[in-house]
Amino acid sequence: MLLKKRLPEQVDQTVAIRRAVVSDAKGIIYCMQSVMDEKIYLVGEYYMFTERGEQERLRNPDDITLVAEDGGKIVGVATLQRGSHKKNRHTGLLGIAITSGYRHQGIGTRLISEILKIATDMGIEKVNLEVFSTNTNAIEAYKKLGFFIEGVKKGQFRIGSLDVDDVLMTRYSRSNN
Ligand SMILES: CC(C)(COP(=O)(O)OP(=O)(O)OC[C@H]1O[C@@H](n2cnc3c(N)ncnc32)[C@H](O)[C@@H]1OP(=O)(O)O)[C@@H](O)C(=O)NCCC(=O)NCCS
Repeated sequence: MLLKKRLPEQVDQTVAIRRAVVSDAKGIIYCMQSVMDEKIYLVGEYYMFTERGEQERLRNPDDITLVAEDGGKIVGVATLQRGSHKKNRHTGLLGIAITSGYRHQGIGTRLISEILKIATDMGIEKVNLEVFSTNTNAIEAYKKLGFFIEGVKKGQFRIGSLDVDDVLMTRYSRSNN
């Protein structure tokens, strides 16, 4: 599919960032699956929830989801899963995926900035994420948003014939907001 390249100011006008609602389930699955199909950015290759399962996930108040929407189509998804135990409720796990053709237009930065604000409002002090060492664009984007590398699991993944490290990144809301 041919997608027109748009200027950031045009994207700002057309791509809306908002909290996901239950009726977004199908669009979220479609967006996530399209990124999984590329096989080089995300660990999973099949989205783990059915539409009904996704609707249940969206109802969970500890599982925050934002979507980027362009003319009714979901083109980006950011999730923040709060720790489910008393010992880790001050932490959250960030996930993000933008559909091919919508990347490097500021949408990821907007989604993450917004979800970090929500995390802080919820009392989440430490936001973690994991990223393939080969995903240098993502690592740069995270660093620009205040994340730093906390650790590396060497050779944690094998993508094709390549051994890839799992880069653990984190961001403290207290020191960065
Ligand atoms: C990684 C991702 C979330 C970044 O979101 P994005 O909307 O593409 O990024 P932004 O436009 O907000 O750019 C932020 C920074 O990221 C880096 N970046 C993102 N895409 C880039 C590209 N194609 N080339 C070079 N740098 C890039 C740049 O440093 C950029 O800053 P700049 O605009 O000053 O150059 C998005 O590209 C994506 O979803 N990629 C595929 C799935 C994925 O990798 N998910 C994360 C798994 S951990």
